[in-house]
Amino acid sequence: MVRLGPHGVQVLSSVVSTQFAQHAPYGGVVPEIAARAHVEVIDVVIDQAMVEAGAGYGDLDGVAATAGPGLVGGVMVGLSAGKAIALARGLPLVAVNHLEGHAVSARLSEAVDYPFLLLLVSGGHCQLLSVEGVGVCRRLGSTIDDAAGEAFDKIAKALGLPYPGGPAREKLAATGDGSRFVLPRALLGRDGFDFSFSGLKTAAARLAEGLTADQAHCEQDRADLAAAVQSAIARQLAERTARAMAAYAREREGRSLRFVVAGGVAANGAVRAALTKVAAEHGFAFFAPSLAYCTDNAAMIALAGAERLAAGLKDGLDAPARPRWPHASPTLLR
Ligand code: KG4
Ligand code: ZN
Repeated sequence: MVRLGPHGVQVLSSVVSTQFAQHAPYGGVVPEIAARAHVEVIDVVIDQAMVEAGAGYGDLDGVAATAGPGLVGGVMVGLSAGKAIALARGLPLVAVNHLEGHAVSARLSEAVDYPFLLLLVSGGHCQLLSVEGVGVCRRLGSTIDDAAGEAFDKIAKALGLPYPGGPAREKLAATGDGSRFVLPRALLGRDGFDFSFSGLKTAAARLAEGLTADQAHCEQDRADLAAAVQSAIARQLAERTARAMAAYAREREGRSLRFVVAGGVAANGAVRAALTKVAAEHGFAFFAPSLAYCTDNAAMIALAGAERLAAGLKDGLDAPARPRWPHASPTLLR
């Protein structure tokens, strides 16, 4: 639950229930398990959010729920719960795009004014966006194959790390030498602002499988490979973002420049460090959500909903759950 006030955003509660344990035996998300797990916890999570915020239903001005994109079983559960509250209490409903939640997530902890250049890096997406205002955003580039988080997860699995393994993988990489393994450098110096991680993912996963199959290889080899993967991903994100920064700065001609990195991969220290550096080099103020708001959370969806509501944007109770839902149109920036 969030409150939009004259002095900025206040997060009253943000309850996150994870299902990692249920999916872990399968090494990835199983759609049927995900949908069932949502039904089991939704009421408890909503109750807990109300208790932690110290609020009752009468204190609400509106209800925001994610309407996509994503596995539609879970999305339907959350959206139906949001609709039920809106209907029962006579409140406006805002159907929020999950990516718009990530786009506003840095605004939960710091004042980040619009417009800004956004790198959204999560398990399913890797996009560079020009965010112009509430719900207004243009896509400058995106991955042509896998998302950065997907590459991280696949390689972590090949290294024998538990799913989803973000922090575990970062810890392993911290003790490694990233220069030992040479990995493909996709799209280096190429025009445009797209990304590609599938070559890196396949090459590193093959190396990782070799290391884990051969008992003679030690922990150090795994750490070196984890470090090489992390720096290769951070390097590509920084290189492609630097190109977009240069073009965006030309387009904005001397006006203030802000850069935001958001999404689960923005929790990674090496990724943050590489992007902090290119932002400074290109004259951009750098912003990233606090760690708790990088990975999926309730507060970012509530904030996206509250901002939409304040701008007079709301949805009908017939708002559909959408497995696919592009939230930005492509644009040309040269
Ligand atoms: O935004 P998010 O929570 O969910 C999606 O919308 O996809 O992002 C999850 C992704 C996963 O691929 C996870 O491995 C990655 O974020 N991630 C990390 C770290 N923490 C989470 N990747 C690298 N380093 C981390 N510390
Ligand atoms: Zn997400």
